Amino acid sequence: MKLFFLLVCLFIERGTPLCQKCFPSDFLWGTATSSYQIEGAWNISDKGENIWDWFVHTYPENITNQGNGDIASDFYHHYEEDIDLMANLSAQVYRMSLSWARILPNGKRDYISEEGVNFYKTIFEKLRSKNIEPVVTIYHWELPMTMHELGGWVNPEMADYFADYASVCYELFGSYVKYWVTVNEPYMQCIQGYGSGIHAPGITDTGVADYQCLYAQLLAHAKAYHIYNDTFKATQNGTVGIALVSQWYEPLTDSEEDKLAVERGMQWMWGLQMNPIIYGNWPQIVIDRIGNFSIAQGLNSSRLPEITQKDTALIKGSFDFVGLNYYTTFYASAMTENISDISYNSDRGIIQSSDKNWVLGANTWLHDVPSGLRKILKWISINYRSPRILITENGWSDLPEVVNDTERINYIQGHTCSLLQAKYVDQVDVFGYIYWSLTNSFEWKTGYSEGFGLIQIDFNSPNRTRTPRASYYYYKNLIETNCLKHCAFR
Ligand code: BGC
Repeated sequence: MKLFFLLVCLFIERGTPLCQKCFPSDFLWGTATSSYQIEGAWNISDKGENIWDWFVHTYPENITNQGNGDIASDFYHHYEEDIDLMANLSAQVYRMSLSWARILPNGKRDYISEEGVNFYKTIFEKLRSKNIEPVVTIYHWELPMTMHELGGWVNPEMADYFADYASVCYELFGSYVKYWVTVNEPYMQCIQGYGSGIHAPGITDTGVADYQCLYAQLLAHAKAYHIYNDTFKATQNGTVGIALVSQWYEPLTDSEEDKLAVERGMQWMWGLQMNPIIYGNWPQIVIDRIGNFSIAQGLNSSRLPEITQKDTALIKGSFDFVGLNYYTTFYASAMTENISDISYNSDRGIIQSSDKNWVLGANTWLHDVPSGLRKILKWISINYRSPRILITENGWSDLPEVVNDTERINYIQGHTCSLLQAKYVDQVDVFGYIYWSLTNSFEWKTGYSEGFGLIQIDFNSPNRTRTPRASYYYYKNLIETNCLKHCAFR
């Protein structure tokens, strides 16, 4: 019978009520951005410099076409237009981030910028007037330079500075915010900013500083979580989570080695971030392998910082919900061990590849593989005690000039269908979907050469003209109907 309906849905009655699948009425829909990628106004009034300001100005050649976020989409001056566009989309939530150095110019709470605070309060007021709930990321990669000068994320004391900053945010903006996200993607910032060095602050110390950074960011997250819970939750009644990125891995072949490579791929990405939060420590396979490699490399102790009992007490259970940023899937196969190479890649020991049949976006890594979203959601649910999950990012990149963006529509359709299957068939507790991104923006290393936006921006025009793409209207219809027309359940 099930097969019958499936065949009917697939071949005959696509789009009829038989095949239409709806999301729960309280399911949250929205779009996301981050402060450095959109705001511009990098040195307005008393705003402090952050590591991205410094990085793009010091090493302009590191960014495609020497792009930078000095003006970006100039959200600082165009926020009204963008919030109107969100309202017209019928979005219920907006995931945004706060710029630490705009609020605390020297990183510390002893000096608070009135203009910075007023800017965000104006945004929150405007969102409120449009009934859009903010999902606020406290930190999306733009560490104040003053903090970097104190050692940045390789210094575990950063966790205390971050907790101070977070408590300023709760105090100032808590009456507007029900969903806080402490840190965006510790993995990406640490591996790319402190390991490979392709992101700010450009530190190349793979296999060492990247793990130290992860450790400090987990502590930072946990401290910020507890401050909210202990001091603000009773009056503000919000929730606190963290946004973790992960791709999904499939084994390249059926060999045992490749299956183990998949396990390492997942543990060196998702596990490094999530295992401490659920179980209080790094994944055992990560502890063992890095520990053994470190000894073989002649070191006295593991390159992986120890999570002490005191840390465990702080980190374990420090979340109300978990944000998942899922973009794509890779094949994993085993890499030949090279013990003399101290690096994250050697520790992980996998080779990543992609399927030639997967549609590729405008960069080197993003393939459209919706099945990966369903699989990772199910895997997380089974292995990490069924956390409450919000999709905090999922998005497609194409060339900035494309307006009739059918590939993006396909991507959203496929991924939201996977999400529904995960929710209804696999019983995953996922309560919302936030598309990345509302507009095209500064895409870090690749500058403005690609765009994830539902809305295109003319970065050459002084007023940064906004043009909704075809996907904007597709997504609007999806949000308003709350149902998918073509989504057969398997
Ligand atoms: C980041 C975003 C970024 C997106 C697309 C995510 O890892 O959080 O800032 O724009 O990926 O690359």
